[in-house]
Amino acid sequence: MKNIPVVMIIFGGSGDLAHRKLYPALFNLYEQGLIHDNFAVIGTARRPWTNDFLRDQVSDAVHETHSAVNENDLKTFASHFYYQSHDVTNIDHYKTLKSLAQELDDRYSAQGNRIFYMAMAPRFFGTIAEHINDQHLTSTGFNRIVIEKPFGRDLASAEKLNQQITASFTEDDIFRIDHYLGKEMIQNILPLRLTNPLIKNVWNNSTIKNIQVTLAEQLGVEARGGYYETSGALRDMVQNHIFQIITLLAMPEPEDLSSKSIHAAKQELLDSLLIPSEAEIARHFVRGQYLGSDTTFAYRQEANVAADSTTETFVAGEVKFKQGPVAGMPIYFRTGKEMREKKSRIDIVLKHMSNLYGQAHSNNITIVIDPDMQIYITINGQKINEPGIRRENLGYHFAKEEEAQVPDGYERLLRDVFVNDATNFTQWNELKKFWLFIDAVEAAWQKDNQAGQEPAQYLPYRMGPRAASEIFESATERWIYE
Ligand code: BG6
Repeated sequence: MKNIPVVMIIFGGSGDLAHRKLYPALFNLYEQGLIHDNFAVIGTARRPWTNDFLRDQVSDAVHETHSAVNENDLKTFASHFYYQSHDVTNIDHYKTLKSLAQELDDRYSAQGNRIFYMAMAPRFFGTIAEHINDQHLTSTGFNRIVIEKPFGRDLASAEKLNQQITASFTEDDIFRIDHYLGKEMIQNILPLRLTNPLIKNVWNNSTIKNIQVTLAEQLGVEARGGYYETSGALRDMVQNHIFQIITLLAMPEPEDLSSKSIHAAKQELLDSLLIPSEAEIARHFVRGQYLGSDTTFAYRQEANVAADSTTETFVAGEVKFKQGPVAGMPIYFRTGKEMREKKSRIDIVLKHMSNLYGQAHSNNITIVIDPDMQIYITINGQKINEPGIRRENLGYHFAKEEEAQVPDGYERLLRDVFVNDATNFTQWNELKKFWLFIDAVEAAWQKDNQAGQEPAQYLPYRMGPRAASEIFESATERWIYE
């Protein structure tokens, strides 16, 4: 594999994301030879760590995620890490960072290539972007920036952040991470849709009745109450992950699999995104908030959450497009915390083709994303010795050994950044459309709040509030996964 020379600067080097995801992923890429002798990583954060302390952290992070590690390799790998204590508002710290990056560039022959990774609290993204620009941190080779979500908290703030970033980076050099796009089963959507005539030929609004996307989590907000209060389920999960999944399900067939063609097909679809009216939001959207139990806190009792918070921990709703293969057809989604179990899945619900055998069966194509990985289609036959339809699932389920071979989403996406493949990253034009939709829903909910209408409360470890089963357009629709 081609060795890519680079100095990478991670803002948030002492954080949870760097520890759990970035360091183990970088080690795997190192073992594969994508980065080798010509790379250095500068971890920055406020804490007064030393290089050695960071290197120990990197080793620990790798040990925690790998069962067998070549200790010599790990030691050499960790020796490429440097720590710089950094206050994101202090100009002098950017000057020090710049000279350290230059020094490491010379030492490791990194050819002036830089990757900046924003892995810290989102409220600092704008400030960092500004100082990367005014302190001229970019160099003479390639300069790429990787940015975590959330990218703004509405269209206006996203636009401002985008301006701050584009002062130093072109759109092609901005990698807005959505870790769902690195997931194996999400990357399976297009091959599933496009390669088998049985599936490809039914992927349209005359055969599909609706599509359902469920991203259910069993955990509550845990220690992230402060962040979650500024976000809620709509901004945390729908604005990014759910919209990207829906886009892959509903977009027209791309001309080829290049990043350019994939994004062009996405954009063609998103240009026809229907922004729901207040009446449609009232009818087809539900927001919920979890209650407590003997062993768990209610959302309003969680740390850093207001006692009268109206932040939603659950949302169900509907998305529609004017164009594309499923134009006009409802795409329902729901996501929430403290639901019955962790389950991310997509159900493509097909229309009934015949009433000869009654209406009791439904025919679905299902993609299970997490925690296991499966694709199956329902097929119908007759029951033995009794009337009625026998339903069986035809499909495949990843074996445990196969699951173990699937790279972590972050490893995939980081590799893409190194090799400059933007296919699985969010482009600005896509993001703008997502925000337009989210802003409309948020505005309607603000009005509801003012009218004293709060999120529906739901008991933990259920599938959200009861009202979520009433968002459908017709009485014959229901959640396939109950
Ligand atoms: C993150 C959200 O983007 O995705 C979290 O901020 C959520 O709130 C997480 O828990 C879910 O990701 P996954 O991969 O566990 O389904």
